[in-house]
Amino acid sequence: MQWKNELTRMLGIIYPLIQAPMLGITTPAMVAAVSNSGGMGSLPVGGLPPEKITALIREVKGLTQQPFAVNLFVYEPAEHYDRKTFEDMQEFLQFLYGANRLAAAPVNFDEVPFYSWRDQLPVILAAGIKYVSFTFGMPDEAGFRLLKEHHVLLMGTATSVEEATVLASAGTDVVIAQGIEAGGHRGSFLPGKLPQVGTLALVPQIVDRVHVPVIAAGGIMDGRGVAAAKMLGAAGVQLGSLFLRAHESLATPAHKAALADITDTDTLLTRALSGRWARGVRNTLITEIEASGLPISEYPYQNELTRPIRKVARELDNTAFVNMWAGQAAGKARAWSTADIFAELVRETALLFNK
Ligand SMILES: Cc1cc2nc3c(=O)[nH]c(=O)nc-3n(C[C@H](O)[C@H](O)[C@H](O)COP(=O)(O)O)c2cc1C
Repeated sequence: MQWKNELTRMLGIIYPLIQAPMLGITTPAMVAAVSNSGGMGSLPVGGLPPEKITALIREVKGLTQQPFAVNLFVYEPAEHYDRKTFEDMQEFLQFLYGANRLAAAPVNFDEVPFYSWRDQLPVILAAGIKYVSFTFGMPDEAGFRLLKEHHVLLMGTATSVEEATVLASAGTDVVIAQGIEAGGHRGSFLPGKLPQVGTLALVPQIVDRVHVPVIAAGGIMDGRGVAAAKMLGAAGVQLGSLFLRAHESLATPAHKAALADITDTDTLLTRALSGRWARGVRNTLITEIEASGLPISEYPYQNELTRPIRKVARELDNTAFVNMWAGQAAGKARAWSTADIFAELVRETALLFNK
């Protein structure tokens, strides 16, 4: 497959095919497998403690010499998190767990951990990372300056043309256009707006408005999707759901099996699990939280509230109480090694490109 352009030059990769960062799914082995195959792996570290980030980066570097990206959640916490909203939800969740013969420790409102991108930057810069992607917002002026001083190339997530122009004018080097089909959290960040634009509509409109390379994300699962993104003017693609069932994925066996059975209509957008809008497969935890009618705390408070039961459920290989983030086309994910999934994607795309 031949698809060389400004993006492949900027990132120092052979194919402009990027494995999406997927917190809770992506392992260093997955990142390295994609980078070693000529694409770009992305290591998700959103919200993780700095020492954990250092260890993960070291692990990836032990597995590949090729470029890979580190992915951050760049947002400012809400000024106020409501204790009553949190405690009412906690009471409901404890009741729900008991009714399902499960137990998970309650969470202390005053001890919700928060590691901001500002806490994380020093270890990322110290590790010599040169490619950073981000979602949920963008760095402030000082953040941009610091990253640029360290010659870090920045890839920011946009879910609308307006967000893309905000990112590009602030100095973001590459825009990732995330369509509504995409699995996981929406990157949307402009106050009071929740864009719901599909990848097919979003990519060309962003391409026409910004003067930086655009990466298409959302619903791309095979060579046809890659070729379509190229025709829309994208300089590359970012794929998450395609790797959900990879051997290197952290999804449990039951989680992977559940993904094998889903169809186009089995995912939904919900705030129930984390407090931010995200696309995933409906399960008991989502349904019950939504049916409770209770208000949901803003991210990361709701995320921390549901974290203990998600951990317990993972250990039990129970899919009813975990988060199964997935895109609208995730049913096409292959249960192969990451390297084989990537090689097949390149092969299919080459056939369509006729080179
Ligand atoms: C399980 C899962 C976790 C995700 N976690 C992150 C993340 O940590 N950071 C991020 O920028 N995007 C995250 N995303 C969104 C992806 O970057 C990307 O937008 C999406 O996977 C593209 O759509 P697709 O799943 O249809 O390929 C996640 C997506 C999934 C499916």
